[in-house]
Amino acid sequence: MTEHNFISKAYSKTLERGKVTWESPSNIALVKYWGKKKHQIPENPSISFTLNECKTMTSLTFTKKESSHDFSFEVILDGEKKDDFKPKIQTFFERIESFSPFLKDFHFVIDTKNTFPHSSGIASSASGMSALALCLMSIEKELGSEMSEEFFNQKASFLSRLGSGSACRSVEGDLIVWGKHKQITNSSDLYGVKYPFEVHENFKNYQDTILLVDKGEKQVSSTVGHNLMHGHPFAEERFNQAHDNLSKLIHIFKEGDLNSFIKIVESEALTLHAMMMTSMPYFILMKPNTLEIINKIWRFRRETNLHICFTLDAGANVHILYPEKEAAQILEFIKSELVAFCQNEQYICDRIGFGAKKIN
Ligand code: DP6
Repeated sequence: MTEHNFISKAYSKTLERGKVTWESPSNIALVKYWGKKKHQIPENPSISFTLNECKTMTSLTFTKKESSHDFSFEVILDGEKKDDFKPKIQTFFERIESFSPFLKDFHFVIDTKNTFPHSSGIASSASGMSALALCLMSIEKELGSEMSEEFFNQKASFLSRLGSGSACRSVEGDLIVWGKHKQITNSSDLYGVKYPFEVHENFKNYQDTILLVDKGEKQVSSTVGHNLMHGHPFAEERFNQAHDNLSKLIHIFKEGDLNSFIKIVESEALTLHAMMMTSMPYFILMKPNTLEIINKIWRFRRETNLHICFTLDAGANVHILYPEKEAAQILEFIKSELVAFCQNEQYICDRIGFGAKKIN
């Protein structure tokens, strides 16, 4: 597949107006995407668990307009007009226009809400951009584009990537790879694909409890962070390491080797933050409570031998990952020892999910 496969042919139908709705989840990377080339091409492959509870629901209402000169849209979040989202969506539309040439023919109302509290510090770009891309794909279908379900998902992931890189891993589940990797033959830099190999029972219904450590606005956006990987002194080594870690995970997933899984996942999280601390300019997104939580997890793991581990996104919140069969004891520990380090004691219990759904 190349970019050209995603350019739409002429549409066979015309539409005056309509409405489509999709619900799309967030995802949590195990091997991280950090660093990109032009056109949202990742510097290294990444792999993520799709989540189940943290999601965005977006309705897209479209009305045919007179002229097709400019994009015309408004954004509503939780029932209120949200003009500060417009620049990001404008950029998204500009990037995808050649693949979705109907965009300037309609006025759009993008009505969106998240299941997680907004300004929780949970990135809504993955779920938000994928939900919007899926809505656009549904319109493309209504315009008469014939396509298989596989192509629909592939193009939805391709468009999502152009909105926000990690969003391309939210269309499907439960384990998604994005970025070319030599052992995963169908993997692509252009879109996410389902992880194609055997996964041991131990990883079924894996749990992710998200501790909301800091809900404030990040000082450095992901986009700026990605750019700081250009000319970063450790960039090449880091990109190679991501390839190696994904190779190692193939064996780990097959064997159900939880201890080796933990080592890779925690090392990936700390490496991501190490890249931030060693870029120029350097920055730190962890907070004191992030470190308190990490140390408590390590101590609890030493004492109990349970398979609890953490990962981090580009922020201070901590994702705690653990197998379903250890959930009762670990959740007890989280509630009694970790929740105190969260802002307003807020946390979200999530687990692996299977991707986006169309709402009728
Ligand atoms: C740290 O996907 O938010 O969460 O492509 O610039 O929108 P843009 O970046 P984004 O980066 C997320 C990076 C990460 C790691 C990951 O999800 O793989």
